[in-house]
Amino acid sequence: MKHLLKLADLSSEEIFAILNLADQLKYERKNHIEHHHLKGKKLGMIFQKSSTRTRVSFEVGMYELGGYALFLSDRDLQIGRGEPIKDTVRVLSRYLDGIMIRTFAQKDVEELAQYGSIPIINGLTDYCHPCQVLADLMTIREYKGSFKGLKLCFVGDGNNMANSLIVGGIKMGMEVAVACPEGYRPDKDICAWAEKNGKLLVTSDIAAAAKDADAVYTDVWASMGQEAEKTEREKIFRNYCVNKDVMALAKPDALVLHCLPAHRGEEIEDEVFEAHAQEIFDEAENRLHAQKAVLVKLLK
Ligand code: CP
Ligand code: NVA
Repeated sequence: MKHLLKLADLSSEEIFAILNLADQLKYERKNHIEHHHLKGKKLGMIFQKSSTRTRVSFEVGMYELGGYALFLSDRDLQIGRGEPIKDTVRVLSRYLDGIMIRTFAQKDVEELAQYGSIPIINGLTDYCHPCQVLADLMTIREYKGSFKGLKLCFVGDGNNMANSLIVGGIKMGMEVAVACPEGYRPDKDICAWAEKNGKLLVTSDIAAAAKDADAVYTDVWASMGQEAEKTEREKIFRNYCVNKDVMALAKPDALVLHCLPAHRGEEIEDEVFEAHAQEIFDEAENRLHAQKAVLVKLLK
């Protein structure tokens, strides 16, 4: 494993190894056992979109591993004024030991990996969000013990989260069901791959997707960069809300997961969110542990 550009690039074994290391790092942190695996290493964090969790968990994660993280906003970098990404990365490769980037186009992340000479980590693109799904998988295993026989349901937009959850879910052997409106389905190639390699249902029928689910996942209707479509999307997605009726169809002990930030009263009902706040914030915490595992695997 040289980079983390998308989950599809990792084998199931590599994902399991990251999750196992993440569990270990979580245990060590809880027990105040120092783990300076990345002493003296430097991570650049390029942000072309907003972030709370990704920024803070990567920065704190590098600190806890004995390394250092630099926050690089595109408002300040020359990228924001048009310097090509392939030049930027060849410069940054001379200073840093790794780069985490949050941006729009997946091809920009691929280009960093192509032109740079250090590990690149995808901190979210319009196409996928692999770091989030590693934390999600860690959380599911923490609560359910294993992935065996589980059904993972996603309700909402067939966006970056849906794409990565399909790949991660199938690679871990779960059945994945996605409920989304026609025209807002997940990536076609990802769905075709998933159908070949496991059990995937993509439907506009929320009940069919939620039925007997072990985990119900949702995300915003309008992602970063889609602000102009917000009003139109509110109409289209109105029925794609994780509420009590949807949860009544899932297994009684089903988890509710959300990558956050959440819009209560849109993709998730406040009561459902609060009833499942424990696992949702465990999931947010697990960003830290899962990403520290990725950093150790790539930068050590
Ligand atoms: N879930 C997630 O990636 O959160 P941020 O946008 O706050 O980083
Ligand atoms: N789909 C959301 C995820 C945020 C973590 C977005 O891209 O804005």
